[in-house]
Amino acid sequence: MIIYVLYAVLGLISYLFVIKPLTEMIRLKLQFGKDCKISFNFFGKEIYDQLKETKESKNERDIFNKQKTAYNKYQYKFFMTNMLWIIRISIADPLYQKEALLNHQLYQKVDPVCHNDLLSKGLMWSKGEQWKKQRLLLSSSFEFDSLKKKVPMINEITQSKIDNFSNENVLSSLQSITGLIVIKSFFGIQTDQIYINNTELQVEIANIMNEMGYMRFKSQIQSTKRLIFGTKAWKIFPTKEEKKLLQRVKDMRLIVENLVQQRIKYFEDSNNSQINNNENFLNILVNEYLKIKNKKQQETTLDQIIQEFITLQFAGTDTTAVLLYHCLYFLAYYPQAQEEIRREINESCPSSYINENEINNLKKLSAFINEVLRLKNPAMRPIIRVATQDHKLKDLKIKKGWLVCIDYFLQNQSEKHFDNAGQFNYTRWLQDKPIKEDNNFIYMPFSAGPRNCIGSQMALLEVKIILGQILKRYQIMINKNVEVSWEIHFNHQLSPTNAVILNKIK
Ligand code: HEM
Repeated sequence: MIIYVLYAVLGLISYLFVIKPLTEMIRLKLQFGKDCKISFNFFGKEIYDQLKETKESKNERDIFNKQKTAYNKYQYKFFMTNMLWIIRISIADPLYQKEALLNHQLYQKVDPVCHNDLLSKGLMWSKGEQWKKQRLLLSSSFEFDSLKKKVPMINEITQSKIDNFSNENVLSSLQSITGLIVIKSFFGIQTDQIYINNTELQVEIANIMNEMGYMRFKSQIQSTKRLIFGTKAWKIFPTKEEKKLLQRVKDMRLIVENLVQQRIKYFEDSNNSQINNNENFLNILVNEYLKIKNKKQQETTLDQIIQEFITLQFAGTDTTAVLLYHCLYFLAYYPQAQEEIRREINESCPSSYINENEINNLKKLSAFINEVLRLKNPAMRPIIRVATQDHKLKDLKIKKGWLVCIDYFLQNQSEKHFDNAGQFNYTRWLQDKPIKEDNNFIYMPFSAGPRNCIGSQMALLEVKIILGQILKRYQIMINKNVEVSWEIHFNHQLSPTNAVILNKIK
């Protein structure tokens, strides 16, 4: 009897972990031939490899190198692999990427921190009608005319912080600027710096997200727990490190909740004219909250407002700070380009305050940022998605439950679309047609389609003002005492955080 049970269990395991994923891979291989690359992993080898690769990324120098080299060699359309029983398909062909991005409703984004109290209800991870409503509510605040009003605030924050720039941790100094910009955009310009256990709130949120996100690469136990238990993983035999992180999440949320509650109370106590004031994101959300408070079905909840703040903080702080850090690295690496761009800034922006009209004249700086985004975008690809139903992308059949990656960083470095694709050359963006065989879905540093980055214009505005101010004041040099690598933390990120040195220009 026992022997039959053992056979049955063995059969089930073989079916789930071997026959099922392998059959799907063979099916696609037969359909697409060399256009589809497959790699079958036995019993969790993928997780093991991922952890190993993360550890080895220091030797590799760029964690995405292997994938880029393979793509340039074979020019495949899809790469298919498995994590235990789950199929993962990476889409490398821009035509299929376009289909996937335009039909975003077929997917659910995977929450990288796998925790219900942080991001799941914010704009980045919400879905369906709820997402539409949230996007509509905030979208006009991210248009250039609204963003223009933030220019004085961005200048002031940058000026107040760049004199105390830390060469020991350049990235953290940048996070402190970009994070405060999001805090003031969310809570209002009068809001002072908020601290939590002596750390600036924006830095603490970035740290929590980084540590929670990085844990799935660092710890095999965490990644297996997440795979099996999803968001409940944090509650299953939490380690000391996990418990500490969860406490930090609670402390951080409490501070944000108090601020939101104060605003709700202020609005409730005020007259109607105050309620129409939409100058910051929180006012917009609180207005909406109060409008529907008395309805039976509460659509915007306090938890949603808190998570919207965490989402915008997460989406807008680290991404922008890492992009700035990458720009500083390339400016240091290419001193001639640094001089050319500094000259342009000094000629176009004579005072220390950079205004929105001057920003439009900074063509070389714009081109430089484009090139950094082409080669080292902190958001190398959109967040991994899960197919929520069986569907087709052109002739590619995708099944419910498959993980789908839209790997648009691959075409950024392909000769098919860029001349001398591997070379850093910012002047390519000053030419008429920098992209070959363009279908508008080749170069998409902020993704594309309805779920593209709502904050792209805000990010570019910030980056130009902050870089402009830094270049006016500092000479940027490579720190020769450290060895750099391009790792994946939460973003694709240059490591260590002191790869450049800023020297004051006398
Ligand atoms: C260099 C800076 C930035 C980069 C590279 C970047 C990149 C991206 C990318 C690739 C996506 C698509 C994600 C996906 O669909 O999986 C995205 C979405 C998003 N970004 Fe950004 N982003 C940046 C800055 C910002 C800023 C400053 C904000 C706001 C303060 C922001 C807010 C968002 C939000 C809310 C979404 C989700 C939009 C939706 O799903 O409707 N981002 N971003």
